[in-house]
Amino acid sequence: QQTSITLADGHSIPQLGLGTWKLDATNMPIVVEAALEAGYRHFDTAYAYRNEAALGDALKASGVARDELYITSKLPSGRHGYDSTLSTFDETMTNLGVDVLDLYLIHWPLPRTGNFVDTFKAFIKLKEDGRIKSIGVSNFHEAHLEKLIAETGVTPVVDQIELSPAFQQKPLRAFHEKHGIKTESWSPLGTGDVLDNAELKSIGEKHGKTAAQVTIRWHIQNGLIVIPKSSNPERIKQNFQVFDFELDADDMARIDTLDSADGRTGANPDEAEFSQV
Ligand code: A2P
Repeated sequence: QQTSITLADGHSIPQLGLGTWKLDATNMPIVVEAALEAGYRHFDTAYAYRNEAALGDALKASGVARDELYITSKLPSGRHGYDSTLSTFDETMTNLGVDVLDLYLIHWPLPRTGNFVDTFKAFIKLKEDGRIKSIGVSNFHEAHLEKLIAETGVTPVVDQIELSPAFQQKPLRAFHEKHGIKTESWSPLGTGDVLDNAELKSIGEKHGKTAAQVTIRWHIQNGLIVIPKSSNPERIKQNFQVFDFELDADDMARIDTLDSADGRTGANPDEAEFSQV
């Protein structure tokens, strides 16, 4: 049975969702159909992925009621600022074909060239207007979060960050916990890198599961929101078969040792300034 997490604003988010980075209009219908059939109700997209319309169309075509679905999108780099956030949000809503968005995130902090404070002020306005249920950020570090909270008086409910067994982000997770921010893991499988790991495979054998399933289960047992991505219907289904087993304390401790300071696969948010997805 799918688990969910209650955010600080009282809204509930399905803990496991489908990541859609790199999925395009060609494969979206098959992917969405496979995901809905497997049990997914949470879909994570972004303006920068250029697939919001394809996702919105596929979800509409499925006939699944809007209130059963949970949709996240993100405000792209290059659109920071109060007014451009409002107009970009309208574009996202047109693309997705929905009236209310479940979760909207600032995709990257752009600490030097961007303006995440005014961007978030527009998010606050959109939430007040009832157009977004929950507002959060992505790829924010402690310093970015501190500035955002100090200058807007509002704490984002989610920070979606790169996080996998090879890059566990423990200090940032502790900071999130202290501030009531839920951590969401992108590239939770280390873009597939961690799946050849002997430790994860051997834990999987013990439970009759794959390394991918062990990894997704590890995120869930750590209280993380997790959005593995796959374009393959079989693997999409496999990645959802994680609610019928449990990792024990020894398994969790073994996975803990896989953490590495250089386990990052994506951009460093302090350096990422341009056209990052
Ligand atoms: P594919 O789309 O061919 O399934 P992440 O979510 O960490 O970015 O990882 C995504 C990558 O991991 C994709 O390349 C995806 O490839 C691959 N992947 C996703 N699920 C599985 C799985 N269950 N087994 C093997 N590879 C997977």
